[in-house]
Amino acid sequence: MGPSGSGKTTLLNILSGIDRATSGEVIIDGQDITKLSNDQMALFRRERLGYVFQDFNLLDSLTLQENISLPLILDRRSPEEIEHRLGPLMALLSIAELKDKYPYHLSGGQKQRAAAARAVVNDPAVILADEPTGNLDSRSAHQLMEMLTSLNERLGSTILMVTHDPFAASFCRRVIFIRDGQLEFEIRTAGERKPFFDKILEAQSVLGGKPL
Ligand SMILES: Nc1ncnc2c1ncn2[C@@H]1O[C@H](COP(=O)(O)OP(=O)(O)OP(=O)(O)O)[C@@H](O)[C@H]1O
Ligand SMILES: [Mg+2]
Repeated sequence: MGPSGSGKTTLLNILSGIDRATSGEVIIDGQDITKLSNDQMALFRRERLGYVFQDFNLLDSLTLQENISLPLILDRRSPEEIEHRLGPLMALLSIAELKDKYPYHLSGGQKQRAAAARAVVNDPAVILADEPTGNLDSRSAHQLMEMLTSLNERLGSTILMVTHDPFAASFCRRVIFIRDGQLEFEIRTAGERKPFFDKILEAQSVLGGKPL
């Protein structure tokens, strides 16, 4: 969490190798990804990483279903397997009936859910999500957070999420506040969501009261 312009998207872009940092290292699974070649980086992103972009990044020329299956198609999975994976995921996110529509026919919330589905369709080891609940109503936001929680618990995927929303943040184990590109403060959950939610609100009000 952190104010607009504090560097949240920049951090995710560096962790995913979209941007190269001018200094420092990024260690994922014991590997410094800043040392990978462009080809190795592309493979790492395709096989290990899911990214829910702040502005969705859906391809306008592909249907919703094609957009979501893209990581599997690139990975040369069979049409049966793709079908098998997409069905339940799209149903869970309430976008099954939109599968043949193109992104420009969809609302922001529908695009966001499609972007989330695409990011998790190959069960990535690491999921980076930039404001994944930003355009969702509270029910859809709740469903998405439960889906991410279950990926974390079921598959052990590591999830790093940017959010302005204390409710979404309360599903996490650890919340890091950044400002002007620096880690400012961090809090960890004791396990229960509701007390953590209150703790996040409190931290936000204290940090928000600070002069910039
Ligand atoms: N490609 C770029 N080149 C140079 N500066 C950039 C670039 N992208 C972002 N910045 C600057 O880096 C800083 C951090 O931007 P970033 O997009 O990471 O913020 P953010 O925390 O994601 O904000 P928001 O909550 O509005 O999405 C800002 O000052 C921004 O203007
Ligand atoms: Mg951003």
